[in-house]
Amino acid sequence: MEIIILKDAQAGSEVGGKIVANLINEKPNAVLGLATGSTPVMLYNEMIKWHKEKGLDFSKVRTFNLDEYIGLEKNHYASYYRFMNENLFDEINIPEENKNIPNGLAENIKQHCLDYEAKIVEEGGIDLQVLGIGSDGHLGFNEPTSSLASRTRIKTLDEQTRDDNKRFMKDGDPVPYHCITMGMGTVMDAKTNLLFAFGENKADAVQQMVEGAISAMCPGSALQMHPNAIIILDEAAAAKLSKADYYKWVYNNKPKWQTY
Ligand code: PGA
Repeated sequence: MEIIILKDAQAGSEVGGKIVANLINEKPNAVLGLATGSTPVMLYNEMIKWHKEKGLDFSKVRTFNLDEYIGLEKNHYASYYRFMNENLFDEINIPEENKNIPNGLAENIKQHCLDYEAKIVEEGGIDLQVLGIGSDGHLGFNEPTSSLASRTRIKTLDEQTRDDNKRFMKDGDPVPYHCITMGMGTVMDAKTNLLFAFGENKADAVQQMVEGAISAMCPGSALQMHPNAIIILDEAAAAKLSKADYYKWVYNNKPKWQTY
């Protein structure tokens, strides 16, 4: 794992934006795995800036989203389909047919999940997966005790996650109980995993993910087994890491060719 601790979420998202831009410049038809929630919004703003101010071209990029609620219409205010359009897709030049988001209204969910996995393989696999982490250690919606080898499937949300996500709902609408999520095995197949965590609410999950034992109780800890996982944190999310000074020294003393 490469642990990058920066002063705040904006600084972390700028580095993330550069990592994404470098990839697309090198490989214009890169396959991106994308995430929703509060955390990646600033990264998406950076990607939009790269597109509008520096001409970064998304016309050949393909995307796969991590997850979607079951039962919400595509244009429901809380659907991840809508989130992606509002926070990224409407502002960049990615063709409609290049975007993939699990369909939470699929009639045959099991088949839909198999097809989603097959399409990722067909497109050549995910080059870079953007991730956040839940306060309970989940990646995507792989809640604690998810198999670390799981594939895209239906999942029941943990109460802690439903509680965390209440802030996205209006007028007392309940957070759905079920979702479709890529599995931990799917995430582990990405060539690079780029995870962001900001704020003190994430400090425990980050500590377990980076320095704890690998355990299905903290699905994020599976990234310890990933050959190319980059973890971008602000000071608050890094507050419980025992080796924070070491991670900072490593980052600040990288040879120039290794910097972003
Ligand atoms: P958040 O969610 O970015 O809204 O905190 C992260 C996650 O659940 O993965």
